[in-house]
Amino acid sequence: MPQSPDRKRLPIGVFDSGVGGLTVLAALRRALPAEDLLYLGDTARVPYGARSAETVRAYARRVSAHLWREGIKALVVACNTATTYALGELQRAGARRGLPVIGVIAPGVDQALARTRGDVAVLGTEGTVRGGRYQAALGPHVRRVRALACPLFVPLAEEGWTRGPVAELVAERYLGPLRGPDGPDTVILGCTHYPILRQVIAAALPGVALVDSADATAAAAAALLADAGLLHPDPSRAGRERLMVTDNLRRFRETAGRFLGREPGPAELVDLIAAEGAPLVFAEGA
Ligand code: DGL
Repeated sequence: MPQSPDRKRLPIGVFDSGVGGLTVLAALRRALPAEDLLYLGDTARVPYGARSAETVRAYARRVSAHLWREGIKALVVACNTATTYALGELQRAGARRGLPVIGVIAPGVDQALARTRGDVAVLGTEGTVRGGRYQAALGPHVRRVRALACPLFVPLAEEGWTRGPVAELVAERYLGPLRGPDGPDTVILGCTHYPILRQVIAAALPGVALVDSADATAAAAAALLADAGLLHPDPSRAGRERLMVTDNLRRFRETAGRFLGREPGPAELVDLIAAEGAPLVFAEGA
């Protein structure tokens, strides 16, 4: 599809409920070094994982609208919970604007199917497990699929407690029952916060293949941009990054490096409600 050079120069929008999606941002940077990346972590509303489908959809809509207004050429939903509940809607809205939208579930499923001998477990938020997207995508192709909510992994990751006795105890409590001859051969880290807990998860599940969808998602995004004729016209340049959060900039600065694997660039605070012009009022009697 012929695209204008101006459009090709726009950044790729990426979002998550918080810092977890930075694991996907890091993979995008490796796969697409010339591209500009615009990241929005909805830290005012994290965690998404315990919220209803309607609430997650409303959050995802608002965050995506902000990135669209900033100017992006593609959107990566770097959150499994938002992918579970909002990807279809965002893809339909994107199609009307000529904006390719991808999530993290399909790339993770493809990677798991390439590795498994037929028994897969998915670890995710309550919302991701309840939404059943992984189970539906894997089910027809494997002997057994189980999905397990591990809600405490998100605050542990956000807090940086990714090793040591507390993380080990939590991992053991969740994953101990999966160990043994009847256990899965492949486990999908179905939450973008979990890759930084990889070491304790691997220790609790020796011999099990762990799938992190970040690299697979980045490869899928690169293919999508190439197909759509949207790759940056200058492949030799060094792409830039702009990071935005909706709350607590200080905390983001402290934790982002752990997820990104390097020092993050400067981050800015955005107020999505004010940006949309929504009235900030309390309902009568609330
Ligand atoms: N990182 C997000 C995911 O992949 C969710 C964490 C949360 O907000 O609960 O599902």
